[in-house]
Amino acid sequence: MLMIEGVPVDRIVQKYGTPLYVMVESEIRSRLRRFKKTFGPTISLQYAVKCNSNLEILRIVREEGFELDCASVGELILGLLADFKPRQLVLTNLFKSEQDLYFAAKMGIQAITADSLEDIEHIAQTAKKLKKHIDIMIRVNPMLQVGSWSSRGNKYGIPIGYIGRAIDLARKSPYVDFQGFHFFGGYVYQTRVYKAAARVFVKLMKRCFDRGIRVRRLDLGGGFPAAVGDEHAFPIEKMKDFPSYFQRLMDRHGLPPVDLIFEPGKAIILNAGIGLMKVIARKRLGAKSRMVNVDGSSYNFIPDTLVQGAIKVSEGGLRYDVLPATQMNAPRIHSVTIGGNTCDCWDLMAHGVELPKLHAGDIVAIMDVGGYAQVLANNFNTIKRAAVVMISPDGKMRLVRRRDRYSEMFAPELDVLKLAGPNELEKYNNLYRVNVDQIWKEGGMTKAERKQNERAKKAFETAERQLAVSNKNGMEGNGRR
Ligand SMILES: Cc1ncc(COP(=O)(O)O)c(C=O)c1O
Repeated sequence: MLMIEGVPVDRIVQKYGTPLYVMVESEIRSRLRRFKKTFGPTISLQYAVKCNSNLEILRIVREEGFELDCASVGELILGLLADFKPRQLVLTNLFKSEQDLYFAAKMGIQAITADSLEDIEHIAQTAKKLKKHIDIMIRVNPMLQVGSWSSRGNKYGIPIGYIGRAIDLARKSPYVDFQGFHFFGGYVYQTRVYKAAARVFVKLMKRCFDRGIRVRRLDLGGGFPAAVGDEHAFPIEKMKDFPSYFQRLMDRHGLPPVDLIFEPGKAIILNAGIGLMKVIARKRLGAKSRMVNVDGSSYNFIPDTLVQGAIKVSEGGLRYDVLPATQMNAPRIHSVTIGGNTCDCWDLMAHGVELPKLHAGDIVAIMDVGGYAQVLANNFNTIKRAAVVMISPDGKMRLVRRRDRYSEMFAPELDVLKLAGPNELEKYNNLYRVNVDQIWKEGGMTKAERKQNERAKKAFETAERQLAVSNKNGMEGNGRR
């Protein structure tokens, strides 16, 4: 049996059901601390909320001394709910509405990153309307090529050739305070890319300095790799000499100090998450091909298998480690494909996984799903997204996100279309909520269980009666007015 922090997975599944994400707290904290140690006290670290925005994770991130890189007002609000101060939050994305800017300016966040010349104009106009100063960073595409890595086709940032114009535009506005530059290189697999970027930006800062323009901040983004399956790991300690390298560059150009910032996401959180699913069926598809169907999918559980799979399909697809969690010591005799539970034929989570003969009810663990899974998951096929459990080093578990509710999933349409009256929805909800296990063992129920079931039944009957009355009155009727 696979154990997570000393707890057998069947016990976890018994308590919380499947599919289920298990986040390992010690792994999250140790990675946050490794980043802090590698970069030292002079470099600011801002966790990229987009990677996994769970409030409990944000709370841990705050406790470990990180600030937040937010991609939307939604993420700013999450940061505030996790007790970050507005000055610890930065808003970086390609577009912000006037309302977004109003919110960010009113809250007094640390900075807003402008992604295009149009974005700078838009921020300047909005700041003028609000009569509020807005601190901005200008996002730059350095048009860099380092080996096979390149930023040239990137959709974000202002190409470096236009940066002079961008700075002039920002400085023209009495309401915009230019703070510095931002760069995000996407997936960066080598330290030399950060060093090459540093050289470009130090030169750019020198040009500013010579024009009497003060640059206070330089943000070199995230993009540090985290290994999935048999990919090579990139220990963050490889960046250990970066702070001194950067300082030497600054000194060589005679520049005053700047706040240097990194925004790691997946390198912190990806390896800290384990996805647990139950086998629902196994299928033999001819002599060589085998399929194991599970109760999660590439849509509601591990969407990155679709995103990455599509990108990397020519290289054999992204290969997650899939473990036979309830049969860890059984000989792995079959090579199988893991098929999700939706109708989509692309909904395949891994290929060529060596597994023992699995049976319905066995648990499989899909490793390294702590980032870009929960945040990308959706309700395709109107299936609920999974719950999330945080497990501490002593094996204590706490639910940090519950499974979706149908009422939440339907609400955006029901709110406007009013196809169902509140009673009608309650009837379905109550019917769904009845504890099926207890109904099956009706005879052998304890007194407390019987009471609980009675309560559920009563609530259901009340909802039915109310529905009948409203039907009769022709109010909510059959719900199709
Ligand atoms: C601006 C910015 N910063 C940081 C990150 C985090 O990247 P990663 O998870 O690859 O470290 C992203 C990811 O999209 C980003 O857009």
